[in-house]
Amino acid sequence: MPTTHHLPEMKEFWIKFELPFLILSILCGKQSIALEIPNFILNNGRRIPSIGFGTWMAKDQDLEIALDEALEAGYRYIDTAYLYENEKVIGKVLKRWIAEKKLKREDLFILSKLPPSGNRPEGVSKYLKKSLENLQLDYLDMYLIHVPFAFKEDGNNLYPLAPDNRSIDMDSTTDLRAIWQEMEQQVNAGLTKSIGLSNFNVTQIERVLKNSWIKPSALQIELNLYLQQKKLVEFCKENNILVIAYSPLGSPGLRKFYEQFKEKIDLPDLLGDRTVKAIADKYSKKTSQIILRFYIQSGIVPIPKSINPSRIRMNLDIFDFQLDDQDMGELKSLDKNRRILHFSDLFKGIQNHPEYPFKEQ
Ligand SMILES: NC(=O)c1ccc[n+]([C@@H]2O[C@H](COP(=O)([O-])OP(=O)(O)OC[C@H]3O[C@@H](n4cnc5c(N)ncnc54)[C@H](OP(=O)(O)O)[C@@H]3O)[C@@H](O)[C@H]2O)c1
Repeated sequence: MPTTHHLPEMKEFWIKFELPFLILSILCGKQSIALEIPNFILNNGRRIPSIGFGTWMAKDQDLEIALDEALEAGYRYIDTAYLYENEKVIGKVLKRWIAEKKLKREDLFILSKLPPSGNRPEGVSKYLKKSLENLQLDYLDMYLIHVPFAFKEDGNNLYPLAPDNRSIDMDSTTDLRAIWQEMEQQVNAGLTKSIGLSNFNVTQIERVLKNSWIKPSALQIELNLYLQQKKLVEFCKENNILVIAYSPLGSPGLRKFYEQFKEKIDLPDLLGDRTVKAIADKYSKKTSQIILRFYIQSGIVPIPKSINPSRIRMNLDIFDFQLDDQDMGELKSLDKNRRILHFSDLFKGIQNHPEYPFKEQ
């Protein structure tokens, strides 16, 4: 059985990991040499890099180049999902890096997720094995249940439609405890080192916790300056579950994504926020760097996505300064409880699923 470790206090984290990192970065020159990213410790004693590389909506050709750039820069945690349909290209790049002895498998932290169309006990090992095959790996570092609701399985169709040809064909029989038991079996079988949840609310996590012998190591949720999810984050801290922040920069790429479907989305401009700009000026940093640094100092792992070489490196260049208490307080006060990603827009009708997670917020 895995042992329980607490997430390190920020002070300890800084001394243990960031001071040597800072000295090394000064000695080596930040841009040319990939340096080790500080880690957080999960509740099973395993390490997770304190920042990851998001890959949603990155097209294969772009992602192949971007991933090379990201690995060169020093990212080691790659965040993917069966649903993103990009695992194969990620696997191709990782295989090359390992074959060329630029990296060892154990240097990496690869996370994938169970798709909603596989969200039933018998789907867990089936889809985990598919992800491993796509990624050309023997094991994952972490496997998450992507969402608490489920779609019906319809061959290879990841978004099955109901007879109205518009709404998602849901499977309302979802039993989260039974699915979690199967997740635990995957750790026993050695197919993943850690397991966790994504897009679950407090009640759903409590149900999993009560019926588990392996506790979830992480919860991946939408989290940004305007949606700080303080209650959920506090609950995770109390239960020693690490929080991973998705869409940490406010997902500006969603605008284009919606345009494909001739729809519009009203996105907050986090990167243009006046308070963040003032703090960025104080440290001669970009607003994106202040935002990412804020999460890490809060004990949260952000996973920004970028296919742009300079932004890929910029998002990692956040370990040579520390926000003070006043900055942290000002950034905390920006919370507006404003969600960006609405699953009911992406998957029509899903708000009627019994496990739709956002009703209680
Ligand atoms: N579990 C879940 O349900 C879930 C849901 C959504 C996302 N995720 C994960 O979280 C990751 C991140 O979320 P996200 O992709 O929605 O949003 P995000 O990381 O907040 O934003 C990505 C967008 O910001 C741009 N960008 C990146 N760095 C920038 C910078 N320094 N300055 C200005 N713009 C910048 C990127 O454009 P360029 O590429 O052109 O740089 C891209 O359009 C995903 O890729 C995925 O791995 C998980």
